[in-house]
Amino acid sequence: MVDPLGVALGAVLTLTAVVLHYSSGTGWEPNDDISQEVLEKRAESLPETDFPEPMNRSIGGGGAPAGAVAGGAEGELAEGGESDEDEGFDPDAIADDEVEVYEIEFAKEGETIEIANNENILDVGEDKGWDMPYACREGSCLSCAGHIEEGPAQDYIKHSNNDTLNEEEMDNGYCLTCTAYPTDSFTLETGEQP
Ligand code: FES
Repeated sequence: MVDPLGVALGAVLTLTAVVLHYSSGTGWEPNDDISQEVLEKRAESLPETDFPEPMNRSIGGGGAPAGAVAGGAEGELAEGGESDEDEGFDPDAIADDEVEVYEIEFAKEGETIEIANNENILDVGEDKGWDMPYACREGSCLSCAGHIEEGPAQDYIKHSNNDTLNEEEMDNGYCLTCTAYPTDSFTLETGEQP
């Protein structure tokens, strides 16, 4: 026997489904994305800086002409970067029986000291009490640069990281003392930049 209440209920539910299917929504529209506008407003409210940190190429220092911050820095970084020999060099991975010690003459400090191939040149110089220049201590600026008198830096040191010096600068004997580890004896002039 057919239940009239059940039939009526079924009809109402079907009708509701049909109405919902063909309805055109609430008319709600998402707001425009204003994030770019907000960012631009914030940028405008910040004061301009025209005094790049000295010798910091990553933000346009190091002698780059004023106003050439972004483009110049990127170009230089693209040309620079780690040399093949430096890539993946980890001084902590040097086994005890592979540790070798070299004589490094610090020309300006007037002393020759021994530094092992797993010892950082800047660290050892500071341990001696010398006031060595540095900033980032991770191979990303130029503050700690020094010059190897004997020749190409690649022949005398390895960098654990070098985001700054390009091949030509290293060929000319420049190194970053904060990430440099000796592979031979040499004479170093601290505080010398290419
Ligand atoms: S202190 Fe920045 S590269 Fe050495």
